[in-house]
Amino acid sequence: MSGSSRGEFSSSFGFIMAAAGSAIGLGNIWGFPTQTAQNGGAAFVLLYLILAFVVGYPILLAEFTIGRHTQSNPVGAYQKIEGGKRFVPIGFLGITAVGFILSFYSIIAGTMIAYFINPILKLIGLNDAAAWVTSQGVSSNMLFASLFFFLTILIVAAGVKNGIEKWSSRLMPTLLVILILLTIYVLTLDGAMDGLKVYLLPDFSKVLDPQLFTSALGQAFFSLSLGVGSMLVLASYTSKKENLIRLGRLVTLSDVGIAFLAGLLIIPAMYAAAASGTEIFDASGNLISGPNLIFQVLPALFNTMGPVGILLSIIFFFLMVIAALTSTISMLEVPVSYAVDNRGMHRSKASIIIGLIFWAVAMTIALNFDLLFNFVVSATTQFIQPLLGLFICIFVGWVMNRNTLIQEIKQGNPEIENSLFMKIWPLFIRYVSPILILIILVQAFL
Ligand code: PFF
Repeated sequence: MSGSSRGEFSSSFGFIMAAAGSAIGLGNIWGFPTQTAQNGGAAFVLLYLILAFVVGYPILLAEFTIGRHTQSNPVGAYQKIEGGKRFVPIGFLGITAVGFILSFYSIIAGTMIAYFINPILKLIGLNDAAAWVTSQGVSSNMLFASLFFFLTILIVAAGVKNGIEKWSSRLMPTLLVILILLTIYVLTLDGAMDGLKVYLLPDFSKVLDPQLFTSALGQAFFSLSLGVGSMLVLASYTSKKENLIRLGRLVTLSDVGIAFLAGLLIIPAMYAAAASGTEIFDASGNLISGPNLIFQVLPALFNTMGPVGILLSIIFFFLMVIAALTSTISMLEVPVSYAVDNRGMHRSKASIIIGLIFWAVAMTIALNFDLLFNFVVSATTQFIQPLLGLFICIFVGWVMNRNTLIQEIKQGNPEIENSLFMKIWPLFIRYVSPILILIILVQAFL
């Protein structure tokens, strides 16, 4: 449907970059290392990897399939598919949840802008201003989150081709290279090997901790942008020629790969910092963690590198802002596509109005950070996203016509019908993924 008013990615590469751009973001470089530190290291990493492939990937493919089949947003998609009417409220829950994710996310993304600006201000001698921007006080948080919101709205208002595709197709490879270089450097520092052990050698006694499961599942959903409709909407803009199974695999592997790499950088960097005198354990002997973790560890690391560190720090935080933007674009796109498809609103008007609503939510969180931030993060990522994923499994596995499903996946991949994959994937969507989600959600409440 090239040329229609909804817009379409102009190439397979554009779609991969947009979907990978949505997946790869603060969830990988801020969320994953923080969660790993909070949950004691390798046991969390192992569980996250398993859940990303066993629960995340099958659901990603389900979202891609619904999205491309209906060429619509989560609400429109359920309205269009036979048997989907009862699921419409789930579509609305997704649209709302993604707005709340966007709101807390913009605060951390704003901090990335602050850390990008900080060394530049220092270089021109504005040391007080530099200290203020990274103070993470209420006013600096509000300012930078607002700036970040403004950028997101601007890009979403511009539409699929000019917005998402253009931004996502750039700069991500650079981020990968920098992460690899930094990791190699960190691993040469004193103390880093202790961190590597914590990161890679699981303490199996921890694997039975219920919180570990809740965190790992939430992290898998958050990192792969699942449940809330971002992946569904992106797929709605892609062509019938694409092989969705392959694209899903690429997105999952690159997302998990970047998260793993970020952990390989941050956890050893914490231990390297400890070796040079920084306290990394709290009063009860656990690794320090929390939303600030990487903002303590990374600048300390860059500081050990002299002038090169200053340059790297500017590039790194710039790339983080871009990575965050390619994710928030895919978030705001969900309610905006609903407003455009179902309400006939103009794209730019919808982007501004909806953007402002969630900007107000972000400001409320920034003003009540201690009270609201962690609560909104865990409510959305650890409970609502998996819950929405559960409903997607029920819908695709049990309600949607199997033939419709296969026909959709077959487009762009004609020989798939009798493959082993098409025997296994439905089993995951019907049984394995929903049962795992259900068990983890239930045990979290017990
Ligand atoms: N996956 C993104 C990240 O890891 O930073 C966050 C995200 C994007 C969550 C889009 C949800 C979403 F719909």
